[in-house]
Amino acid sequence: MYLTKTIKEDLIWVGADDRRLAFFEGVYGVPNGVSYNSYLLLDDKNVLFDTVDKAVEGLFLNNVQATLNGRKLDYLVIQHMEPDHAASIEELSLRYPDLTIVCNAKTAQMLQQYFDTDYSQRIHLVKEGDTLSVGKHELSFVFAPMVHWPEVMMTYEKTDGILFTADAFGCFGALNGRIFADEVDFYHDWMDEARRYYTNIVGKYGMQVQSALKKAENLQMHYVCPLHGFVWRRDFGPYLEKYQKWSLYEPEKKGVMMAYASVYEHTEQAANLLAAFLSDRGVEVKMYDTSVTPASYILSDAFQYSNLVFASTTYNMCIFVTMENLLNDIVHHNLKNRHISLIENGSWAPVCGKQMKEVLSELPGSAFIGDTVTLKSSLKQDQRAQLEALADAIAADVKA
Ligand code: FEO
Repeated sequence: MYLTKTIKEDLIWVGADDRRLAFFEGVYGVPNGVSYNSYLLLDDKNVLFDTVDKAVEGLFLNNVQATLNGRKLDYLVIQHMEPDHAASIEELSLRYPDLTIVCNAKTAQMLQQYFDTDYSQRIHLVKEGDTLSVGKHELSFVFAPMVHWPEVMMTYEKTDGILFTADAFGCFGALNGRIFADEVDFYHDWMDEARRYYTNIVGKYGMQVQSALKKAENLQMHYVCPLHGFVWRRDFGPYLEKYQKWSLYEPEKKGVMMAYASVYEHTEQAANLLAAFLSDRGVEVKMYDTSVTPASYILSDAFQYSNLVFASTTYNMCIFVTMENLLNDIVHHNLKNRHISLIENGSWAPVCGKQMKEVLSELPGSAFIGDTVTLKSSLKQDQRAQLEALADAIAADVKA
């Protein structure tokens, strides 16, 4: 059994979907699965771009064999050594003993870290800008360190204008028989998952994404081939614009992403009231319960919105655990330039407001809007005015 998709007559997708994986990288839920993309370019020399995760290795190897149909596999270009793309290098190399591995020096070092086999005699080392002619196609190598690991490189094929982008421009979600982004309503149905993929996987490395985008800006791109998700052959511009925004940490929307952690219902009630006051003032609000929604979804919307509100109860004299996890995640992903407001609760010692402020102060370019509203157990009638004042401050900031 094999399952391949033709991108053009000499470029074949030989990857696979995985719908059994619960958590990508052990942490990001993928309820709609994920695809591991690998591409085989057929020419005088046949070139494979990356391999796949161990979970789908069997189908991948069948796909490669069926596509080669007796031809030789000459090159494997390794663009990224993360095991979701590199796990099958060992088995592939055993099956194709004449295969030459094309990679950079950092990748060569990681190869030896991951595998016990000595690949040094099979490696063709490349540097930034090096070219490799494989027949009518000429490949050049565009280094993209930290998009998402230090060894990452992209490959540009000049004849047909194909950019193989490694993790960049990927998306969560299985392909379900499609291969091109224009075979689905990507901007309507897939943007949220594309944003969640970008922000959680590459979000920390905005500066490095910017530098990769600059290298790619003068390339003619007729096809964009990432390691996850759809291949692009048209309407790529708006997606590129999203990458510009995300990597510059510019919000896509003026509005509020509000996350609350509430053991009983009192902190939640205050958050709901603030949301209602904001809505009265014409401000869009998206709300999450940190005990219900996994952090990856909330982080994604923290990248999307201009203003963030966090409301938490104090727990063990700390920030409530799910909120603490979320805030650390946001800080570790290097989000910048957000305007933040806080609500804290505590029945005897409400201290988490100060602690949340300390954690969030690490976000570069961020500012705190309005006064922190402090609840002692529950919201009292005379505190509605404090929430109204906070809503006024946030609304004025959003509309500024
Ligand atoms: Fe899909 Fe960074 O690997």
